Parts: sequence; structure tokens; C-alpha cells
Amino acid sequence: MNILVTGANGQLGKCLKKIAGTYDALNFNFMDSKALDITKKSSINAAFESGHFDYCINCAAYTNVEQAEKTPERAFAVNADGVKNIATACKNHDVVLIHVSTDYVFDGEKKSPYIADDIPNPINEYGRSKLLGEQYIQEILDKYYIIRTSWLYSEYGNNFYKTIVNKGKTESVLYITDEQTGCPTNANNLAKYILRLITSPKTKYGIYHFTDWQAITWYDFAKEILKETNLDGKIKVERAKNYRTFAARPRNSILKSS
Ligand SMILES: NC(=O)c1ccc[n+]([C@@H]2O[C@H](COP(=O)([O-])OP(=O)(O)OC[C@H]3O[C@@H](n4cnc5c(N)ncnc54)[C@H](OP(=O)(O)O)[C@@H]3O)[C@@H](O)[C@H]2O)c1
Repeated sequence: MNILVTGANGQLGKCLKKIAGTYDALNFNFMDSKALDITKKSSINAAFESGHFDYCINCAAYTNVEQAEKTPERAFAVNADGVKNIATACKNHDVVLIHVSTDYVFDGEKKSPYIADDIPNPINEYGRSKLLGEQYIQEILDKYYIIRTSWLYSEYGNNFYKTIVNKGKTESVLYITDEQTGCPTNANNLAKYILRLITSPKTKYGIYHFTDWQAITWYDFAKEILKETNLDGKIKVERAKNYRTFAARPRNSILKSS
């Protein structure tokens, strides 16, 4: 089976690359944003015509939530229009699309974990751009998996886990919000789950939620990270008061895995 991976130099792309060699039956073509820019139709056409692909795993995304609030057109160009381009190419070349989306499509007002059938209502530009991407896929394609995940971390890229470990080595006190609750997810496990979709007997196409840990606040997650890395003796974690970000964040980000 031949698999095209977009956004291959991002956190999830690198996690997929790390395990790709252990799947003998799968041939991967990893393309980073230079090799394949999903906002450019000519770039997509060239990639899809370079071979026959059974699956496209779309790891390409504009993920800077704060910056998306200031320049939403950039987020929409990648997360909505870029995804529309990829979906159209998948339709034209009969390729199954595996696309990754986010807990931020929800407003966070629900009092229990979100299931895949809950109605999205994003409260920031990043979430709105990701939701439009989802909607384009559903309009254009029959053969797709949209996998919503949350709070990704790994050894790659910039993520909360790495930030806390780095700060834990240099600072004496950290102020972390306890106003948002979600499920941290190791991007390595998400990568394995995605490849299991491809290698195991057919799962029905549609929208799924994938997370791999319990629901927790950022404050408690920071404490867990410091404990796991034996840095908890060196640094204090305090609850941040009046914590504000430019982009609004859902209070309840808990996705129920499906
Ligand atoms: N990170 C999280 O906490 C989180 C949470 C929930 C859902 N997600 C979703 O999970 C997926 C993977 O996230 P991630 O953490 O791996 O993100 P990431 O590390 O930011 O990687 C995204 C990749 O997309 C590439 N990209 C940006 N614009 C592109 C374009 N026009 N054409 C092709 N590639 C482009 C980036 O390349 P450049 O670096 O060259 O720009 C980058 O390598 C995304 O769909 C994200 O929305 C992430």
C-alpha cells in the first residue's frame, strides 16, 4: 500500500516517520511543506501524479493558535482551503484521506466529554479554520477518516511537555492555568493509531476521536510532567490567576475516544 504523508516535518509527521520502517507492507512518501504546499494546487497535482497512492495522511496544518487570531487568513488558507485542495485531489485520484483535526472545534461548554457526533461550535479562529476543513472533506469525499485529537506532545516540535521540562530545569516557580481541562495525547500513539486504521480490517469511514490519557487540567499536567522527569523537587507549580490568552480557549476540551 502506498501512502502520501503531507506536513511530514511537523510533530505528527515525524512520529509517523519514526515507525514507518516497522510496517513492511506500507510504502511511504513523506513530503514536507517545501516538497508539497497544500495551499498550491500545482504542488498538490504534482505530488498526486508522482505515483499511485492508496491513502493520504494529512499532517499539514497551521497550528499556531495565538497567531491565527491575529492573522486568521493564514490559518484558513492552510486549515480550510488547503484541506479542500487535498480532499479534491483525493477525490480525483481515488485516495482515502486520513485527516487530523482538533478538540478546538468545540466551545467547551459541555459538562461531559465530547463525542464525535456533538455539534461543533469553535470559539477561536484556529478552531473555525479546522472546522471548515472538516466540512470541506465531508462535502467532497466519501472515503475519509477525520481524527480529532487534543493536547499533542512528543519529543518533536514545540509542545507543552517540552516547554515544562525546559522551564523545570531553569526556573524556580511556574504559574499554570487550571481553567482548562483536556486529554494530553502522545503523538507517537496517535501515529500508531493512524497506521492501525490502514493495516487493520476496514473501520467505517467518518469522524473519530483519539486521545490516550485521562482528562486533566494544564496545571495538573505540568505537575505530572515534572514528577515523571524527576524535576518536581526543584520547582514549584502555582495556579495562574487571571490567566488570559489572545485566543479564547474551550474550558472543557475533553474528547471521548471512539
Ligand atoms: N499540536 C497539538 O496540540 C494539536 C492538538 C489537536 C490537534 N492537532 C492537529 O494535529 C495535526 C498535527 O499537529 P502537529 O502538532 O504535528 O503540528 P505541527 O508540528 O505544527 O506540524 C504541522 C506541519 O504542517 C506544515 N505545514 C504548514 N503549512 C503547510 C502547507 N501550506 N503545506 C504543507 N505543509 C504545511 C508545517 O510545516 P512548516 O513548519 O514548514 O510550516 C508543519 O511541518 C494538525 O492537524 C493539528 O491541527 C494538534
